Amino acid sequence: MDSPKRPRAEAWLQYADELGLTPFFRDRASESAAIDPPLQSPAPASSPLGAAPQPPAAYSAAAAASTASPRHAPAPAAVPSRAAKPAAASPVVPASPGLSLFEAAERIEADSLPRIREDIGDCTRCKLHKSRTNIVFGVGNPKASLVFVGEGPGHDEDVQGEPFVGRAGKLLTQMIEAMSLRREDVYICNVVKCRPPENRLPERDEIATCSPFLFRQLDAISPKVICCLGACAAQTLLQTTQGISRFRGEWMDFRGSKLIATYHPAYLLRNPAAKPEVWKDLQKVMAVLGLQPRRR
Ligand code: URA
Repeated sequence: MDSPKRPRAEAWLQYADELGLTPFFRDRASESAAIDPPLQSPAPASSPLGAAPQPPAAYSAAAAASTASPRHAPAPAAVPSRAAKPAAASPVVPASPGLSLFEAAERIEADSLPRIREDIGDCTRCKLHKSRTNIVFGVGNPKASLVFVGEGPGHDEDVQGEPFVGRAGKLLTQMIEAMSLRREDVYICNVVKCRPPENRLPERDEIATCSPFLFRQLDAISPKVICCLGACAAQTLLQTTQGISRFRGEWMDFRGSKLIATYHPAYLLRNPAAKPEVWKDLQKVMAVLGLQPRRR
């Protein structure tokens, strides 16, 4: 700022300070970093999620994008690659410094998972009900310290009525076990409870209709950590349209729980080179939960 205006601005800031109004001029980016500094963990030499193949010299974002699953791929500009690493992520800051819509939404007194399941009933609230076989509510420990949130059931989940039981689910189970936990120690659920036809992305109206049940599940469990698997879960909980690569691996707050987003296991199946990144994210979760990696 040019010098004639500076003393005047400083006087206003001091005046506001004396009135206790300081937050309006706080730098929110540095504020959120100060509240929740990202945990540092050394880059793993190898990942227990399976070896990441060495990328060919010409590995590029374009090559990665061409093999990525459209359903679980990060936004094209943000496809992780060794050649074009995403810039250091900055924590997502809510659009307004006040309560978000979801924070402002009332919590239901003494809510519980059985009650939420009962309220869902034999749901016909959105068009996904027409092609589903089973409602896939969620499984695991109702008092879990760690909840994984995926996108929506696929074919195997629709048939079995349980989240993450197909190929991606087997990889998620490996991830959980690498953290020295068992599937039954954590809670696993999705943004939408019915399978989108042809494994397409859940649509806005479907997410809007179903996600209140997810928020209730998270409120009822009140886990220490929520780990979002993929962009759909992260964007739904954080109310952002930013690509996941912008904030993957950063700690954020969700209604009193610590929230971290990482890549979806289905994305890892197609892009094993991203496994070390995900393992780093899981190590951050383990540090918060006081877990040691499983001995192999
Ligand atoms: N992908 C998801 O996001 N959820 C599942 O339950 C299975 C696959």
